[in-house]
Amino acid sequence: TSGGSDAAKRRAGESAAEAVDDGDVVGLGTGSTAAHAIRRLGNRIDSGLHVRGVPTSFASRELAADRGIPLLDLDEAVGPDAPGIDVAIDGADQIAVGAAGRVATGAEGGGDPTAAPLIKGGGAAHAREKLVDAAADRFLVVADPSKEAPVLDRSVPVEVLPAGRSAVAEAVRAAGGEPTLRRAERKDGPVVTDNGNLVLDCAFGEIADPEALAATLSATPGVVEHGLFVGLADEIHVGTETGVRVTER
Ligand code: A5P
Repeated sequence: TSGGSDAAKRRAGESAAEAVDDGDVVGLGTGSTAAHAIRRLGNRIDSGLHVRGVPTSFASRELAADRGIPLLDLDEAVGPDAPGIDVAIDGADQIAVGAAGRVATGAEGGGDPTAAPLIKGGGAAHAREKLVDAAADRFLVVADPSKEAPVLDRSVPVEVLPAGRSAVAEAVRAAGGEPTLRRAERKDGPVVTDNGNLVLDCAFGEIADPEALAATLSATPGVVEHGLFVGLADEIHVGTETGVRVTER
């Protein structure tokens, strides 16, 4: 929903949708870029592809159903006798890239597990997104170039239990952040997530160590999930005005 041209988002989303194989169980991300991937998957199903989707939000479920994608709940996809999730496709609000302007993928072929940290949750869907993206064998991030930055510096969305709102806000301040309760645009009051919780958008300035901040937030009572995704991305598909840049970790 932010920045970037729709053509660039479409190239990214479609590039990732083309990487899906017949028979795959596919995590379906949330946001305008992932929506392009869902629509392309729908077209591929019309042409004979067999896949099943695991939605990450009310919105991605609705779009996928509309496009004729057979759906599984996460509980049906993972478990002892379940098929698992082969690949997840999801957007991002910010991606940390290396100093040279390339996605920070660590040493050549090294697969640095802290490379390419992301901020997600602009659509308040990051709790289910993280469940699905982390459960997938491969997680493909789809984005336009406006999402790339040398260092993560956007606000980190933190989903909180409603009763824990003030306690989590205090903990965020103690960690050097400034929390703001996310408010709804067409309703008087806060945004309520698909899980019935609230969202604090937490400004930390430049996040020098995303892994450490992620650990701090995860250890805070009342935090349901935060939008720092560290060590999860396997491929980044960045759409441009003319093509797609794909970086593998
Ligand atoms: C949803 O909560 C987010 O994590 C989205 O994946 C993110 O906001 C990307 O959305 P766009 O592709 O619309 O920018």
